[in-house]
Order: sequence, then C-alpha cells, then structure tokens
Amino acid sequence: MAGQVYKLEGVGYSYGTYSALKNISFTVNAGESLAILGANGSGKSSLLKILDGLQFASVGRVEFFGERITEETLKHGLLRCFRERVGFVFPEPDVQLFCPTVFEEVAFGPLQLDIPAAEARKRVADLLEMLGISALKERAPHTLSSGEKKKVAIASVLAVNPDVLLLDEPTNGLDPRTQVWLFELLGSLKALKKTVIMATHDLSLVQDFADRAIVLDESHTAAADGSCAAILRDKDLLLRANIIHEHTHRHGDVIHIHSHGPFATHDEHE
Ligand SMILES: Nc1ncnc2c1ncn2[C@@H]1O[C@H](COP(=O)(O)OP(=O)(O)O)[C@@H](O)[C@H]1O
Ligand SMILES: [Mg+2]
Repeated sequence: MAGQVYKLEGVGYSYGTYSALKNISFTVNAGESLAILGANGSGKSSLLKILDGLQFASVGRVEFFGERITEETLKHGLLRCFRERVGFVFPEPDVQLFCPTVFEEVAFGPLQLDIPAAEARKRVADLLEMLGISALKERAPHTLSSGEKKKVAIASVLAVNPDVLLLDEPTNGLDPRTQVWLFELLGSLKALKKTVIMATHDLSLVQDFADRAIVLDESHTAAADGSCAAILRDKDLLLRANIIHEHTHRHGDVIHIHSHGPFATHDEHE
C-alpha cells in the first residue's frame, strides 16, 4: 500500500458547546508512524475517532486515500473497505470485547470477510500463537486481567489485517512486561510498513516508535508537526503543551523525566 492515507483540512470538532479540536490540518502517508501528543483533554481521542469514522468533523474535511470521509460516504460504498483497512484500539479494552471466548472475539472480524471459514480460523489460531495468547483462547474475555484484555483487543484488530492502525493510549495501564510485548509488536508492525497513528503522552513510546509527532495544545489546535527527534528536543513546546513538567530536563538530546516515586534518583550530571 502506498500513497496518502489521510488528508485533513481545517478540521474542527465540538461536543455541543465544548470545543475538542480547532483548525487541524495535516496529511499522513502510507507507512508512517505518527504520534499524537497532548495533555489530557487536548483532543487526541476525538481526533482518532474522526480518523476512524466513529465521529465526523464539525467543520473542515477529512479524506482517506483521496475520498472524503463523511457519515454519508461511510454509509454508502466506502464503508466496507474503510472498515477493513483501518483498525482502532480503544484505550479501555472492555469497550471492545463482547464475545463469549477469546477465540470468537479474535475470529469475529475475519469471519465477516470473504474468505472461507476454515481459513479465517487458521488465521486466528496463527495470530494467537504469534501474539503469545493461545493459552487464553477458551477464556471469557471479561475474566481476563487488563493486560490480557489489551492483548486480545489488539489481536481482534490485527485479525482483519488492517493497513492502518489507530491506537489510543496503548501503554496505559500495562504492566512492564506487557509494555515490552506491545513495544515488540509495534516494532513488527513498523517493519511491515503498516501506517500507525497513536495518541499518547508516553514519551518513551514516542521516542522508540514514532517517526513524526503532532502536538495538540490545550486550546485544541496543533502546536507542532514534525520529526519526533525535533519535537522531543523542544522542551519549551512540551512544557507549554503540558506534556512534560518542570522536573524534566535534558542531557544532550535526551529528555529526562524525574519521577516523584521512591526511585527518583539520578546519577548523571546536567
Ligand atoms: N462526550 C463528550 N462530551 C463533551 N465533551 C467531551 C466529550 N468527550 C470529550 N470531550 C471534551 O473534548 C475535549 C477533548 O477531549 P479528548 O478528545 O477526550 O482529549 P484527550 O484524548 O486528549 O484527553 C476535552 O475538553 C473534553 O472535555
Ligand atoms: Mg484520550
């Protein structure tokens, strides 16, 4: 897959009188790994929902491979291919899981596709194996731990082999080992040249996996759009957008964040 995946022009969104996004314009090319950075309430989730066609721009236009995404175009025609090509991982996996078993959960998408059921089941078994969650396949999703639920939610999205993955706060609530699992998975998706757009305030995730970042500020506009390396070096920008706090500092190109917990030590010189 090549070309321009998304083009946004002057996109605004409001919930009644509450503004969530103002005058957002950018393009995303196939194979890019893009981070949407911003403080709580800056509009990251609203933006991802617009990119997934779950809600629609109040003003401006959104295109997917040159075709406009509106309620109408999704309903008539574009919908089927759009839904197969774009996968959304919600911040809370509970929102996403509704089947009686993990296997059925992950098989739900593939069984809707025009492929023989046996092939769909084989695809699901292979994916569960690849993601290291085969042992969970007979379990009821609601009985799983939050890390396990997250893995199943991600598996159910990957099962239809989308070209574009939208991930909202993917590392939130994950224990360290599940975070490593997620980091490895994102590395593989990048190697497969999938287009990945993730909303996060986890700077280590951004540093390791995104090529580019868009910073949303607290007035819901895009304060910056550029290479991750340049944005992560711009301490003033990150402070202004409330993504880092004053206890953050930098060694050369590396931003360090002091934690306030019991292990808040630091052995290097500023
Ligand atoms: N369902 C909603 N109704 C009213 N306001 C909302 C709703 N969802 C989000 N908002 C508001 O929209 C703004 C952006 O929210 P959101 O997109 O969730 O930001 P983020 O994901 O960056 O935390 C916030 O001011 C939030 O209060
Ligand atoms: Mg959010």
